Amino acid sequence: MKHTDIREIFENAQYIGQDVTVCGWVRTARNSKNVAFIELNDGTTLKHIQIVVDKAENADYKEPRVGTSVKVCGKVVEGRNGTVEIGVVPSDIVILGDCPTDYPLQKKGHTLEFLRTMPHLRGRTNTFNAVQRIRSVMAAAIHNYFQSHNYVYINTPLITGSDCEGAGEMFQVTTIGYTDKYKDEAEYYADDFFGKKAGLSVSGQLEGEVAAMAMGKIYTFGPSFRAENSNTPKHLAEFWHVEPEVAFAELPDIIEIAEDMIKTVIKTVLESCPNEMKFFDAHFEKGLIARLEELISHDFATVTYTEAIELLKKSGEDFQYPVEWGCDLQTEHERYISEKVFKKAVFVTDYPKEIKSFYMKQNADGKTVAAVDLLVPGVGEIIGGSEREADYDKLVAAMQDRGMNLDLYGDYLDLRKYGSVPHGGFGLGFERLIMYVTGVSNIRDVILYPRTVGSIR
Ligand code: 4AD
Repeated sequence: MKHTDIREIFENAQYIGQDVTVCGWVRTARNSKNVAFIELNDGTTLKHIQIVVDKAENADYKEPRVGTSVKVCGKVVEGRNGTVEIGVVPSDIVILGDCPTDYPLQKKGHTLEFLRTMPHLRGRTNTFNAVQRIRSVMAAAIHNYFQSHNYVYINTPLITGSDCEGAGEMFQVTTIGYTDKYKDEAEYYADDFFGKKAGLSVSGQLEGEVAAMAMGKIYTFGPSFRAENSNTPKHLAEFWHVEPEVAFAELPDIIEIAEDMIKTVIKTVLESCPNEMKFFDAHFEKGLIARLEELISHDFATVTYTEAIELLKKSGEDFQYPVEWGCDLQTEHERYISEKVFKKAVFVTDYPKEIKSFYMKQNADGKTVAAVDLLVPGVGEIIGGSEREADYDKLVAAMQDRGMNLDLYGDYLDLRKYGSVPHGGFGLGFERLIMYVTGVSNIRDVILYPRTVGSIR
């Protein structure tokens, strides 16, 4: 269907005086004696274009209902406040799809909770229109960042035979259910599709390391799946994961890459999506744009886990989860560190080895590993990464300590046998970064169809 994107008309003055065809959904429609107005949105921009209907031709013109899809042919004219509108007569408006009065988005101002009950329609609201465009611009910015720094984009498998994080949060992939026909689990898995236990990948890292040991610098950008029973505003069972992996890199290099990438992506969003960012600043978080501008113009803070524990202990705060060296940092702790102590993004490094994954480089102190998490105000952790253990014997020892089945990790161990190099990487939770950039406080509202514990549609 030949037509012009509404965004093009707003952004190019050359359309003024031209005849155009636009398509879209009616956001509002008003009718008065001689003239009627339609606000039309086609999803290419947050702004609606005003259609001004001259009723001289047909005084009985009846305005289309909210939600109706229409095709309109008319002349672009300058409107008030320096904007543009389209002048038409009633016969210039073709109804493509009528919208009955039970359309749930008739009125404005629905709560996000209410909109979550209709993921198939909420994209037609300003909020979700803006979220999805920012998401798209951020995805492109992430690809651009890595592509322009010589990284190779790798697609790692989504069905896997190993649990990367070793935390047992994998969804199982099976074509048959377990029955008492099997004498034990081993017999059941042997009979299943892959002839062994398989699941959905929680992270592409292990395969990412395989690729980095050949291509030097790689990144993945795809879904990860976690069967965590975490019904929180920042956990999804299916989230999008950006995982760079870099050969010949140590922990400080990884931290530098993470900071540079985050700043570049945020800068791109501020430049490319000014209207969407003003919308979020006005409706979701006052001062959002200033906060992000501040973030990209200063260095992020860095603190060791041990120092962070001291800060938390000295805080005098009444935390729900008690703080002791060795404990995992909870969201309340992460937010205290980034919001109250540093008031900006902060890298926390060198965590106790017991609370981190088997693959992290063991520090000389024998107690900690070269891990890093990036904490940001409002959200908490958005990045988790580390330098990897490149020494074969140390890695095997860490796996044995955790009772892991080494047979499942033959490929991974081979990397330490054949030309091992210092290397590392990190995982960025894409939705968590979108939350941070938009000020939207629930992860369910930054993805088209959220999958969370007890909820799938
Ligand atoms: O800290 P995580 O578990 O690290 C890894 O998966 C490593 N393999 C990454 C790497 O080094 N290549 O997860 C990384 C990030 C977290 O910081 C968080 O932002 C996001 O992934 N994440 C989730 N986002 C939404 N819902 C969940 N359930 C998430 N779990 C992790």
